[in-house]
Amino acid sequence: MLDFTIDVHGLTKRYGDRTVVDQLSMQVERGEIYGFLGPNGSGKTTSIRMMCGLLTPDAGSGHTLGLDVVREAGAIKRRVGYMTQRFGLYEDLSIRENLGFIARMYGMDRRDERVNQSLAKLGLESRADQLAGRLSGGWKQRLALAACMLHEPELLLLDEPTAGVDPGARRDFWNEIHGLAARGITVLVSTHYMDEAERCHRLGYIAYGHLLVSGTPDELLQQSGLASRSAVGIDDPAVVSALEHDSAVSTVTMLGDTLRAAGPDAAALDAALAKHAKDAHWQAVPPTLEEVFIHRSRQAADNYS
Ligand SMILES: Nc1ncnc2c1ncn2[C@@H]1O[C@H](COP(=O)(O)OP(=O)(O)O)[C@@H](O)[C@H]1O
Ligand SMILES: [Mg+2]
Repeated sequence: MLDFTIDVHGLTKRYGDRTVVDQLSMQVERGEIYGFLGPNGSGKTTSIRMMCGLLTPDAGSGHTLGLDVVREAGAIKRRVGYMTQRFGLYEDLSIRENLGFIARMYGMDRRDERVNQSLAKLGLESRADQLAGRLSGGWKQRLALAACMLHEPELLLLDEPTAGVDPGARRDFWNEIHGLAARGITVLVSTHYMDEAERCHRLGYIAYGHLLVSGTPDELLQQSGLASRSAVGIDDPAVVSALEHDSAVSTVTMLGDTLRAAGPDAAALDAALAKHAKDAHWQAVPPTLEEVFIHRSRQAADNYS
C-alpha cells in the first residue's frame, strides 16, 4: 500500500449557492512535493484549508497524516505546518521574538532550544534581534517557513509562499523545500510560477473549483494532446491579435522575438497559422506547462463558468 500523507475524496465547499471547491479528490505521497496551480479564485486556498483541518468540508471525506479531516481536525492542525498566503509574522517583533511567540502559542516544549536551532539553520543568529519587518521579502519568507517548521511537522502546506519574492530568493527557498522533502517531509505548495511548477514531483491544476488534471510535469506535457508551434521575427501586432482570436488557437505567447502558438488540433492550428501568418517559418515544438494550463483553463471556462 502506498503511504499517502494526504488522501481525500470528493471534498466540496459551498458559500451560499456557490460551490467554490467541487468534489476534489487527491493523494499526496510521503516525501513528495505536490504543486497546486490554478488561476486566482479557483479554490486553492479553500482546498488547502480543508485538508489541514481549518475548514470543514460540506461534503467529502479523507485523511491527512492518517487523521480524519472532519473528526480529527484539531489533531491535524497541530501536526501540519501551514504558511498562509500573506506574511503571518509580526513586523514589529524581532526575529527571535517572532519564533518565540510561535513556540509559546503552540505550547511547545524545549522552546529556547528550538528557537536557537531554527536561527542557526536559517543563518540568522547574528540578526536575531533585528525587527522582522526590516527583512527583505525573501528573508521574510524564509523566516515564515522556519516558523512553521518549529514544531517539526511532517507535512507543510505552503500557500503561494513566493508571491512577490525575487528570483534569487525564490531559488533559495525552493532549494530549502527540496532539502525538507529529501528528509521525508511532504510538501503541498500553491504557486503561479511555471519554473516552480517544474520543480515539483507532481502537479495538480485547479480551475473553477475542479481539479482538472494531475500528474508529474512530464506526464502532463505528454498527455496534453496540445500541438505547439514557434516562429521567429513576427512583430506585427495584427498577426498576434488575429491568432489570439482564432478558435483553433488556445494560447499565443511572445517570448523575445519568438512567437509561440498552441492548440488541441494540430491540423486546425497549422491552417490558422497559414491563414494569419503565412510568410513565417513555423516549427513544431513541445508544449510548455504554461500552454497546457492555459488550454485547460479555457476548456474549463467552457464547461463550468
Ligand atoms: N469565506 C468565504 N466566503 C465566501 N466566499 C469565499 C470565502 N472564501 C473563499 N471564497 C470564494 O471562493 C473562491 C475560491 O477562493 P480561494 O480558495 O481563496 O481561491 P484561490 O486560493 O485559488 O485564489 C473565490 O471565488 C472566493 O471569493
Ligand atoms: Mg489563495
